[in-house]
Amino acid sequence: MSFDRDIRPIMSRTCFSCHGPDVSSRMADMRLDLRDEALKPKARGTPIVPGDPDQSEIIQRIFATDARVMPPASANRTLTPTEKETLRRWIAEGARY
Ligand code: HEC
Repeated sequence: MSFDRDIRPIMSRTCFSCHGPDVSSRMADMRLDLRDEALKPKARGTPIVPGDPDQSEIIQRIFATDARVMPPASANRTLTPTEKETLRRWIAEGARY
């Protein structure tokens, strides 16, 4: 699986407006476009734990069925079930960027 081919398009459409390179629109002081940043533990969990999707907060949040779900409802963007599975499998396989 390739970050640029499989993951970046999903994250740019649904995550990077709030967790990407632009510091002025960044939420939760978290960016997912850089591996080193995405692997840093945060107050409530670690966004990405390579090889362990269940421990990865981004997986908990994209599969959440309550208000914790990401992207938030206000973003008017949703992930398809296939995209969610792609993100889960990419982390299971080591979250290579
Ligand atoms: C419209 C803005 C927006 C978008 C788009 C968005 N998020 Fe978030 N995200 C937030 C906000 C605001 C918070 C902080 C509040 C909260 O934790 O719910 C947050 C928090 C998080 C956290 C918790 C960070 C921590 O401090 O532990 C994770 C993980 C996360 N988002 C993942 C994602 C992922 C993955 C995507 C894309 C699939 C995404 N978000 C898309 C606004 C957004």
